Parts: sequence; C-alpha cells; structure tokens
Amino acid sequence: MTTTDPRDHAIAVLKENDRGTYTVPTKGLYPFQWNWDSCFTAIGQAHFDENRAWTEMETLFAHQWADGMVPHIIFHVYDDGYFPGPDVWRTNRPVKTSGITQPPVAGFALKRLYETSTDKEAAARRAKTLLAPIHRWHRWFYACRDPKGEGLVAIIHPWEAGRDNSVDWDEAFARVPTEGVDPYERRDLRHADPSHRPTKEQYDRYLWLVQHFRELEWDNTRLHDASPFQVIDPGFNAILIRSCADLADVADMLGETAIADENREWVEKSIDALDTLWSETHGQYLCHDRVTGDLIDSASIGGVMAVVAPVPDHRAASIARTIEREAEKARFIVPSHSLDDPRFDSKRYWRGPVWLVVNYLIATGLRAAGEDAVADHIVKSSLDLIALSGFAEYYDPLDGAPLGGRTFTWTAAVVLEFLAGKP
Ligand code: DGY
Repeated sequence: MTTTDPRDHAIAVLKENDRGTYTVPTKGLYPFQWNWDSCFTAIGQAHFDENRAWTEMETLFAHQWADGMVPHIIFHVYDDGYFPGPDVWRTNRPVKTSGITQPPVAGFALKRLYETSTDKEAAARRAKTLLAPIHRWHRWFYACRDPKGEGLVAIIHPWEAGRDNSVDWDEAFARVPTEGVDPYERRDLRHADPSHRPTKEQYDRYLWLVQHFRELEWDNTRLHDASPFQVIDPGFNAILIRSCADLADVADMLGETAIADENREWVEKSIDALDTLWSETHGQYLCHDRVTGDLIDSASIGGVMAVVAPVPDHRAASIARTIEREAEKARFIVPSHSLDDPRFDSKRYWRGPVWLVVNYLIATGLRAAGEDAVADHIVKSSLDLIALSGFAEYYDPLDGAPLGGRTFTWTAAVVLEFLAGKP
C-alpha cells in the first residue's frame, strides 16, 4: 500500500477482498460471504461502484432459505482455513450455507443504496427485486424467533448477534452443555492472536448448539423452543426495527404499500416492546434471557447500539450521556463493554474492543435524534483509529492497537461513509 489517502486506502481494501459477486470480510480468517458484513460492504461499494453494490446484496439473497431465513455464512468455495465449515453445519443446500442467521442490516442497506444511487431507474429496478425477499426475512424473524408475538425476537446462538463472546451471554451460555461435542480443530487461531478471540470453552458451546440444531434438521419451527439459549438482544432487535422502517420507506417509494404497511406494524409493536429492556441504572438497554425471564445485568454495546432504532428522544439522550461517561475513561469510543464492569477486557473481541461498524450504527441513531456532538465525537474517534492503526477488525479502546483480522472489509466500508459525512 503506497497511498496514504484514507479514501483510496478504504477502496483498495474493498477491492482486495472482492471475489466478483461477493466480498470476504478479510483474507484467511473469514474466507466466505458473511451476512451482515455483506450489507455494510454494499454500503461502502456504493461510493465507487453502484452496480457492484447491488450485486453484493443480490448474491446474499440468492441464498435465502425457503422458509425466509437468510443464513449467516454462504460457503461459496472450498476453504479448509475456516472452522466450522459446511461439513459441520450439514444444512443440505445447493450452495452450502450455515444454519443460523445474523443481524438483519439488509433493509437499512437497501434504503441507503437507493437514496444514494445516481441512476434512479436502475436502482428502482434492483431495489424492487430485493423488497419481497427482505420482507420475507423480516416475517421469518417475527414468526420463528418471536413465537408468542411479544414484539421482540430472540437469538438462539451467540454467532447470530455477531457479538460472539459478549459478556451478555455468559450466564445464559453457561446452561449450554459441552458433553458430546465432536472433536474439532479451531482454525481462527491460525490467523489471529488467541488472546483476542473467544475461549475454548465458548467454542465447545458454540459447537454443541450447532450439533443440537443439526439433529433437529435445521427446522426453524422447532429450533427456538428447543434451544437452551434464547436471548433478546436490544441491538439485534433495534437493527431489525430500523430495517423494517427503512424497508417500509423504500416500499412506499416503489408503490409496494402492502409491504410498507406490514413493516410499519412491526416497527410500532417492537419499539414499544424494546422499552421494556431499558435500564435506568445503566442508562442503556439490556439483554433479556427468555428462558429465565430475567434482564441480564451487563452493560454491553448491544444496549447502546439500540439507538439505531427510532427510539424516543429522551432514550437517545440518555444513551449519549452514557457514551460521554465512557469517553472519560477510554481514549477511543465506543467500547463494546463498559469500562466500569470488571469483566471488561480491552483486547478480547466483543468484551471491550471498539468496532467501527457498531460506531457507524450508533452515530446514525444519535444523529437522527439530534445528538450531534456525541455523533461527531464517535466519527472522529473512528477516523483517529484508522489513522493510527489501519483498517483492523477491531481496536483496543485504551491505546488504539489494531486487533483481530487486518485489511477488514466492513471497517473500510463504514470509513467511506464517515469520510463522506455520513452519518
Ligand atoms: C467466527 O467464526 O468467528 C464468526 O464470528 C462466526 O460467524
């Protein structure tokens, strides 16, 4: 890399990880297509190649399951450098995929692509073909992950939240057994420092859940109730709510009023339900353990990024104050776990490090709520991290050290947004 211009550098990272019709999050560590990574990638690609951005989303939805789920990994090619691969998931799809899902960023990304497009006719055509599949995915969530119609969906595996080893899951995850897990060899430790990654005990539990769901033949009418791990993550739900609202807006623009109406109904119901997760003590939302019925006392980024949903302004204001308090202790914001909590770990994946995609979502929500000063601070901190440590997967909030994988696609994608003054 010879250029020092961050925009050129970000575009170079996106191009380097481009595999033609999909983009890998980074070489080595993640050699396939990941669901929410891909949606952020498309937002980034739209800055220099709109056609390619639409293709990224279309490839993802070409692998939607018949029941409406969009899987978290699509194994387009054979690669022995990642575990667990398709031989572990055994989902029996024409192109191999995992069997769980990920945060539904697609509705949000669709609106972003549509509103930034310079060729509105092409954009309308391509957005129209994605509307119904994204709508089916939203419907799948409320049918399969909210079977009692509470207005909030549960994740049944930590990998679904994308925040694999968050402190949020510790207690609920302790109920997941480890007996009977087939012998395995992790591959992530070939590519990343073990002290930045989840532990072996966590991997055993990740694998136990995969084997359990596999035995249930990936039947989503059974998986939720059969899972010993059912957690309502406010961040995940907020992304879904935001995507429903954004899909509704695009649907309206394209004259698809039935899709718009149903998505707006979900937004209304879920935004009220989200408020039941609010913690006055922590000044943020908390996760809820659906198995025990308890709120989970863990001040993680999940309950901060919930501000990306159209939450009431007084909630967004409280979240902004919470971030300001964290900023007094961390050099870079927003840490993925509160520094006040003894479980904070500045280097271990989702237990403390800063993630720029999360910063992007939080800044988006704060900007919409008029909390410009904190949104600006988050954007500045993000760009400072890039200048100091390049396009890493995540960063130490105390000293800004780059952590996990390098030349990371979604980091580059959101940097293009930040540089363009978004959010
Ligand atoms: C991993 O393998 O680290 C992923 O986060 C699972 O999707």
